[in-house]
Order: sequence, then C-alpha cells, then structure tokens
Amino acid sequence: MKVPSAKKRVVLLGATGSIGENTLRVLAAHRDRLELVGIAAHSKWEKLAAIARQFDVRHVGVFDNQAYAAARADAAAFPAGTHLVGGLAGLVELAQLPEADTVLVAVVGTTGLDPALAALAAGKDLALASKEILVLAGKFVMAAARKHGAKLLPVDSEHNAVFQCLEGHPQAGVRRIVLTASGGAFRDWPADRLAHVTPADALKHPNWSMGPKITVDSATLANKGLELIEAQCLFGLRPEQCTAVIHPQSIVHCLVEFNDGAMLAQLCPPSMTFPIQHALLHPERAPGVDSALDFTKLLGLEFRPVDEDRFPLLRLAKQTMVAGGVAPAVYNAANEVAVAAFLAGQIPFLAISRVVEQTLANVKNFEPTDLAAVLVTDDHARRVARTFLK
Ligand SMILES: NC(=O)c1ccc[n+]([C@@H]2O[C@H](COP(=O)([O-])OP(=O)(O)OC[C@H]3O[C@@H](n4cnc5c(N)ncnc54)[C@H](OP(=O)(O)O)[C@@H]3O)[C@@H](O)[C@H]2O)c1
Repeated sequence: MKVPSAKKRVVLLGATGSIGENTLRVLAAHRDRLELVGIAAHSKWEKLAAIARQFDVRHVGVFDNQAYAAARADAAAFPAGTHLVGGLAGLVELAQLPEADTVLVAVVGTTGLDPALAALAAGKDLALASKEILVLAGKFVMAAARKHGAKLLPVDSEHNAVFQCLEGHPQAGVRRIVLTASGGAFRDWPADRLAHVTPADALKHPNWSMGPKITVDSATLANKGLELIEAQCLFGLRPEQCTAVIHPQSIVHCLVEFNDGAMLAQLCPPSMTFPIQHALLHPERAPGVDSALDFTKLLGLEFRPVDEDRFPLLRLAKQTMVAGGVAPAVYNAANEVAVAAFLAGQIPFLAISRVVEQTLANVKNFEPTDLAAVLVTDDHARRVARTFLK
C-alpha cells in the first residue's frame, strides 16, 4: 500500500550512466518535489554507494554477481540500513518498491524490459530512456501500460518533445512527426572515409555527451532508426508518418505536422536534463537545471535531408517498420551485437550495417502473439548476427 507523499518518489535504474548522472542533477535541483528511493547499475557499486550516501537512498541494486558480492562485503560504504539486491530479480524488485511513484529506466540495451514491465504492472509511472525496450517489445509494453492504467513518459529527447507537442491535440489531426538528428560524428564525412573510421572517431559526438553504445548508434544513424520505431510504437503512428531530418544544432528536437500543414516544434538546448525533468515532474513545470536558449546571441537553425546511402541503417529501420512483426526486434538485436563488436575492434564501422542487413535477411519474420516468442527471436537473432561478424 503506497502512502501518499507530497514528493514524487523515484527509482532510477542505470543511475551511474549518462542519463543517470543527468537525472541526479535534476533530482538535486528539486529535492522539494522529488525524492530518490532506489538506484541500480550494472557493476559500478562504489559509484552507487556514493549516490546512495549523497541522496540517502536505502534500496540499491547491483546487476553483476561479482560486483554485488563486493558491495555486500563492504556494506559500510552504503547508508546504514541499506537494502542491497542483486541480479535481474533485484532490478525487478526495485521497480516495484511499494514506496515508489515513478521508475526511470535508463539501463543500456534491453535488460530493463522486465523491470519496466514490473513497474507498469505495479501501477508506477514509467519514465523510459531505454529505447531498445520499445523496439524489442513495444506492442507488449504499450499493452501493459494500457492494462494497468500506468503513465508512460518518454525521456528520449525527441520523443519527449513529440509528447509535449501532441498534448491536447487529437491524434486524427496529426499528419506526421519529424524527428531531428544531429547527424552524429560523421555527418559531413564523405562515404569513402567511413571505411577507415575507428571507435575513437565514432565516439566523438558533436553535440551530446552520452554512453558509448548510443554514441556509435548516432554515428551510424541507427539511433534515429531506433527512434522512428520507438515513436511509431509510443504514439500509435503508421510507418510513413514517422520521418527524420538532419538538424546539426540539436536545438529543435522534433516537429509535429498537422493535417492543415501547420507545424509545432519543441526547442531547448541539447541537454538531457530538459526531457528528464519534464518526465519526472509532469505535468508540473518548474525552473530548469540548465539555462534556456538565449536569443540575444546569434542562433542559426539548419535542416537537411538524411543521406540514406551513406547511412543505410536508417533505411533498414524504416523497412522493419513497414515489415512489422519481429523485424524491429531483429534489427535491434543485430545492431547491439555489431556495435559491441565494432567497439571491441572486431569489425570495421561499415560492417555494422552489413551485419544488421544480413541478420534481417536470415531471420524469418512473423507476428508474435506473446512476449516469449519475441525473446526467443531476440536470442536467435543475436546468434545469427554473431555468425556474420567473421
Ligand atoms: N545518454 C543519452 O543522452 C541518452 C538519450 C536518449 C536515450 N538514451 C538511452 O538511455 C539508455 C542509457 O543510456 P546512457 O547513455 O545513459 O548509457 P551509459 O552511459 O552507458 O549508462 C548505462 C547505465 O546502465 C547501467 N547498466 C548497464 N547494464 C546494466 C544491467 N544489466 N543492469 C543494470 N544496470 C545496467 C550501467 O551501469 P554501470 O555503470 O555499472 O555499467 C549505467 O548505469 C540507453 O538505452 C540509451 O539509448 C540515452
């Protein structure tokens, strides 16, 4: 039984990552409105202990077995009375903490799926940063949100922006949405140079400071592909209604075009504190953590079409949206395998899209009727993708 509280009580899964750190900045700035009650990460337990001490958090989850054992052996590093949990079961337990109102899932990849579903089943608001979850199992996550009457608030900046532009507008009036893409590290590189890029090159994002996987996805534009799939699922759109445009400044985060041709845009500086705060405080608006746009300074806004020949992962993502079924899940699985291999120096940059294309061609598509079938396909697609790394 949840005891009503004046503050929103938040569980943060992925507290040590890039989204996690930005969320902590928002929480620190709004201690009067928000209270952190649970945190989790993969293995950085010492960083979790520091966060627990700073925010007086009493529920801490460590996914990795060894790190969990190390954390338990040094319990004095955590505030007195801390409840330490381990593994996926620990994350699920945190997502259902009776005292929590909102669960923010910012775990890289699809590990956050079970905790996200657990949070929805427990009637928590779900603030979702982990786009891979919706690409893998969007149909089932959205059905769970509807079934339990839970609020699903997008944290991904573009989707949070679309959410803001759509509020109060009937869905029937929407012609299309346009997600903006910075273009990533290789936006202006000619095709022939892309053959020789290194992981260090791909990790230099022009506008955003993010974790390594999403930064590589930005460089291949797979990130925008994943986001188009995420948008289709979150907002119930047809594939052709989900489009993307290059916008190098990352100030306009989306445009929503209505049937009459009018467009609404959402603008703010490229900092994740804006969408995170919106999702955590929704529907309340409070002063932001970072400065707003300053129109006393020159501000250029530029838009260009996406070059799908140089960045085929965007085209492939659109094809999976049209194909439906498990195709988006296969795309995501193959991309995760290929990006990990690229970051480990096992395959060149251009092989990432090749691995995804070959995996899509070799895994049979079908309409899944249950989540188990999607998870089996996800596993199968990862094994197929690994055969194409050689
Ligand atoms: N960064 C952004 O600006 C941004 C924007 C939009 C959406 N997103 C999405 O947000 C998610 C997180 O991105 P990020 O950039 O914050 O990634 P990141 O910096 O790499 O951080 C990942 C976080 O997830 C934790 N983690 C990884 N595997 C885990 C597991 N099995 N169990 C529990 N925790 C685990 C990590 O813990 P350790 O530190 O212990 O490894 C870390 O806290 C991704 O899905 C990404 O697509 C990110």
